[in-house]
Amino acid sequence: RQLLVPKDPTAPPVVFHYIPWFGSAAYYGVDPYKFMFECREKYGDVFTFILLGRRMTVALGPKGNNLSLGGKVSHVSAEDAYTPLTTPVFGKGVVYDCPNDMLMQQKKFIKHGLTTEALQSYTELMPPECHQYFAKELKLSKANPGPKTVDVLHMMAQLIVLTAGRTLQGKEIRESMSLHFAKLLEDLDKGFTPLNMMFPNLPLPSYRRRDRAQKQMSDFYMSIMAKRRTGEYDHENDMIQALQGSVYRNGTPLTDRDVAHMMIALLMAGQHTSSATSSWFLLHLAHDQELQQRLYQEQVDKFGNPDGTFRPMTFDDTKKLPLMDSCIRETLRLHAPIHSILRKVLQPIVVPQSLAAPSENVSYVIPKGHFIVAAPGVSQMDPKIWEEASRWNPLRWLVDGGVAKTADEQYTSGEKVDYGFGAVSKGTESPYQPFGAGRHRCVGEQFAYLQLTLVIGEVIRNFKLTAAQDEFPKTNYQTMIVLPLDPKINIEARV
Ligand code: HEM
Repeated sequence: RQLLVPKDPTAPPVVFHYIPWFGSAAYYGVDPYKFMFECREKYGDVFTFILLGRRMTVALGPKGNNLSLGGKVSHVSAEDAYTPLTTPVFGKGVVYDCPNDMLMQQKKFIKHGLTTEALQSYTELMPPECHQYFAKELKLSKANPGPKTVDVLHMMAQLIVLTAGRTLQGKEIRESMSLHFAKLLEDLDKGFTPLNMMFPNLPLPSYRRRDRAQKQMSDFYMSIMAKRRTGEYDHENDMIQALQGSVYRNGTPLTDRDVAHMMIALLMAGQHTSSATSSWFLLHLAHDQELQQRLYQEQVDKFGNPDGTFRPMTFDDTKKLPLMDSCIRETLRLHAPIHSILRKVLQPIVVPQSLAAPSENVSYVIPKGHFIVAAPGVSQMDPKIWEEASRWNPLRWLVDGGVAKTADEQYTSGEKVDYGFGAVSKGTESPYQPFGAGRHRCVGEQFAYLQLTLVIGEVIRNFKLTAAQDEFPKTNYQTMIVLPLDPKINIEARV
């Protein structure tokens, strides 16, 4: 039969697979990067694979990234790709459960919670949270320096949720963190997995717990807003405060329910991405004593007091730490938390001939109904682009002691696009996009950098890290976010 049906010459090549519906699910699911690098060798930068009945067309390299991240709203849709996963967790009416134009306006509202003034107040609030955690959970001191073996992912997940809780999420959320809230977050998390993405509604207990937790968490945020209106709580410089009272261009106000759902979205968007990034960062430091010492020295040089203590950082200080900045950049290069950025194809996309099948005189067309996959991590680890691409080497970002231009600045035409929250470099055709690019680019990058700089700064100021295993931890791709597997380190108080 196959012989009778001529292959459409414009269709991207399909990755060979044995089982029709299942397709390449096992290979892609276990190690998406290995899969994509191997497919690139065989099929070029653009190819289609089958994933549990879905047709996924991968477009690799900076030009491939541009095809989906720079795609027109009429051609590619993030909401059609993500909503089965995100709407049950975030709640209805916001982010991917509304037209794209509304999401763009919501991102503008979020920017109001990330002003310089707000970020400065967050800078003051985060270190005390870290100190409290160190004293309560690590219990290491000059008298009892350790070392102690810890699961670094667990430790960082705690530090990230506590510091985001105290700042962006607001005082009331932080106060309830050790109580009911932690359990709700856990139940929501368990509903935010690749399984949920592929099968949004299964009759499983974890799905029921997800739905219950979503409702309870949303109600909790709403009760905070109601209490704040009565003046029972002091108003803080936080995101709830920034979002309440926001009004869409057409005059429709954000409801408290909308704000609650946006707060859950922000919590979920920042929690695992930043926990993963900080864990990978500390794992690399534990395996690289020289760099760890240099990073400690950076803190001493900039903030050290003569008596061996440190002065607190200001928001401005956090932006002037070349080595810390390079370490974060390099960690995000090698361990981009999101390996596949998805869009649903709404209208056929013509692939530029330079991108695919250069030997054949044909342009591929990605048909409507496919998913288009951007994998910035592939260009971020491409040996054709980066020297010693697979080595964690933060120093590659430093030029004469200063920070090199960002990869974006180096590789893009610098085109500026205004999506309503200020002109940003479109950056859709860049080999470095850990925060995505184009209209869906991450809105939390600045907060993430601030949080990582402060939390890791506090860890480095107070502790020495060493590897708990000879081998560097392997990667777990079975979760929505790329995580280290069994990530143990030894931690010891500096004396
Ligand atoms: C979107 C990465 C932290 C809020 C994205 C996207 C990426 C990303 C790749 C684009 C997704 C797409 O195009 O489909 C990261 C990384 C982080 C981080 C690597 C930390 C290291 C945060 C934080 C927040 C946040 C802390 C909130 C405070 C968002 C939101 C979007 C987003 C709301 C959705 C934007 C949209 O679809 O238009 N992030 N993120 N992220 N991020 Fe982040």
